[in-house]
Amino acid sequence: MLKIKNLSKRFGGIQAVTELDIDIKERQIFGLIGPNGAGKSTTLNMIDGSLFPTTGTIIFKEENITHQRPCSRAGKGIARVFQKDVLFSSFSARENIKLGLHLHSNLGLKEIFFPWSAISKKKDRILDEKAMEILKFVRLGEKADEMAINLPHGNQRALGLGIAMATGCDMLLLDEPLTGMNAQETDQMMEMITTLRDEKNLTIVIVEHNIKAVLGLCDQVVVLDFGKKIAQGDPDMVVEMPNVIEAWLGAEQDAV
Ligand SMILES: Nc1ncnc2c1ncn2[C@@H]1O[C@H](COP(=O)(O)OP(=O)(O)OP(=O)(O)O)[C@@H](O)[C@H]1O
Ligand SMILES: [Mg+2]
Repeated sequence: MLKIKNLSKRFGGIQAVTELDIDIKERQIFGLIGPNGAGKSTTLNMIDGSLFPTTGTIIFKEENITHQRPCSRAGKGIARVFQKDVLFSSFSARENIKLGLHLHSNLGLKEIFFPWSAISKKKDRILDEKAMEILKFVRLGEKADEMAINLPHGNQRALGLGIAMATGCDMLLLDEPLTGMNAQETDQMMEMITTLRDEKNLTIVIVEHNIKAVLGLCDQVVVLDFGKKIAQGDPDMVVEMPNVIEAWLGAEQDAV
C-alpha cells in the first residue's frame, strides 16, 4: 500500500532521516519506533506531505505522491492524527466530526455549520447521522454536543481519531496516540485502533514509545536510530535484538 524508497531528510546540518526503505501492506498496523530524535515524526511528516523529503520516493497505492501537497494526499486516503490535539476547540464534538466529513461530502462549510441558511436540511441530517455513527465508534456518543475544549484529554484524542476517520481515509498515521493517557484510556485507545483495522480495514502507521502497546498492536515494526533503520520485523523478535535494546530500550529505561 505504501512504499518508501531511499527516503532522506536534512534540516540544515541535521540529517534527520537517512536512506530509509519501508514497505507497508494493506491492513497492517505498522510501528515506527526508536529513541527521541530518531526521525519518527519527520518520517510521518513526509508520508502525509507536511514535509518534502530531501531525496527519495513515496509511492501510495502505486502512485508516486512524493511531491504532492498534504490536502491532495488526504483526498487520496492518508489521514494524520497529530501529536498535539488539533481540534476546533469551541465547536462541539459533533461539529468537529462534521468538519472531517466535509472533506468528502459535497457540502460547503457554510452549509455544515449553518444548515438552515441555505439548502439541504436533508443532507445535513445524513451528515449528522454519519457523525453520530463515528462518535459512537470512538465512544463519544454521549458527548456529541459538548465543546471539544471541555472534553478530558483521552476523549480529545479519541475525537482526533474520529475526525481522521470522518475524512474517509484508508491509511491512518498516529504520532504517539497514547501520550498522557491513563491506563484505562490507553486500553480503550488500543482497542479502538485494532477495531479500526479489523472492522474498517484501515492500514495504520503508529509512532509509539509505549512498548506494551507496540507489542500488543503492531504486526511489523521498523526501528530508527539517528535517522537510520537499525531493525525491522515482528515486534516480539525485534525487541529482543541487542542493537535495539541498546538504542531504544536502553534509552527508554534510562528515561523511567
Ligand atoms: N523542523 C525541523 N527543523 C530542524 N530540525 C528538525 C526539525 N524537525 C525535526 N528536527 C530534528 O530532526 C531530528 C529528528 O526529529 P523527529 O522529531 O523526527 O524525531 P522523533 O523520532 O519523532 O523524536 P521524539 O520521539 O522525541 O518525538 C531531531 O534531531 C530533530 O531535532
Ligand atoms: Mg516525534
